[in-house]
Amino acid sequence: LTAFFQPKLLAGRRVLLTAGPTFEPLDPVRGLTNSSSGKMGFALARACAEAGAEVTLVAGPVSLPTPAAVTRIDVQTALEMRAAVLKSVAAADIFIGVAAVADYRPVQASEHKIKKTAVGSALTIEVTANPDILAEVASLPAAPFCVGFAAESQNLADYAESKRLAKKLPLVVGNLVQDGLGSDGNSVILFDDAGQHKLTPGPKMEIARGIVAHIANMLEQD
Ligand code: CTP
Ligand code: CA
Repeated sequence: LTAFFQPKLLAGRRVLLTAGPTFEPLDPVRGLTNSSSGKMGFALARACAEAGAEVTLVAGPVSLPTPAAVTRIDVQTALEMRAAVLKSVAAADIFIGVAAVADYRPVQASEHKIKKTAVGSALTIEVTANPDILAEVASLPAAPFCVGFAAESQNLADYAESKRLAKKLPLVVGNLVQDGLGSDGNSVILFDDAGQHKLTPGPKMEIARGIVAHIANMLEQD
């Protein structure tokens, strides 16, 4: 019912989002991943759809239902997430990177389960850097309006603004991981060219609607 009364702030806009963690296999039963429930990304996908946008959501492994009227593409690894994003990005006006992408992946995934008896007491895993999906999208010649997330454990303002400038993003949503991880609520600060805007702390759906309103506002000013 709430959705019915939402103003259609993103009518006619096409939004592509990433959400959740990625999972980088090490062997058939193990891998490297990040802590991310996917709740914020899914809430944002839902808020964009409720605001009238056509929404595609590229999701890492999460156990969440697909929001109404959202096209969902499930992936496991950062490389799969990148491929899915690059396939859909030409049709997007807005890209929002909410995913907690694993920064590194094992150089090799073992075909069979790694056995303790074969390895002994110390296991060394060689990892290599994953591509930065958001930075890549933001540097495309016909880049959509790009929004990043910065989940930090300290120095939020410094790190969030540095990421915004380094990846050349008009907007970054910053939050302290202590405030949001896994929970239904969040507390975020928006960073853009005009400065910092703190949203009222609340449920992730309310925060998502606040972010959508801010994006719509910025696009209107273009
Ligand atoms: N991101 C991405 N691809 C990656 C890493 C990050 O698309 N390989 C995106 C995230 O979805 C998020 C933003 O970049 O929107 C910031 O991610 P974050 O992990 O906070 O920053 P990093 O640049 O990876 O730096 P660090 O992890 O060292 O803080
Ligand atoms: Ca990272």
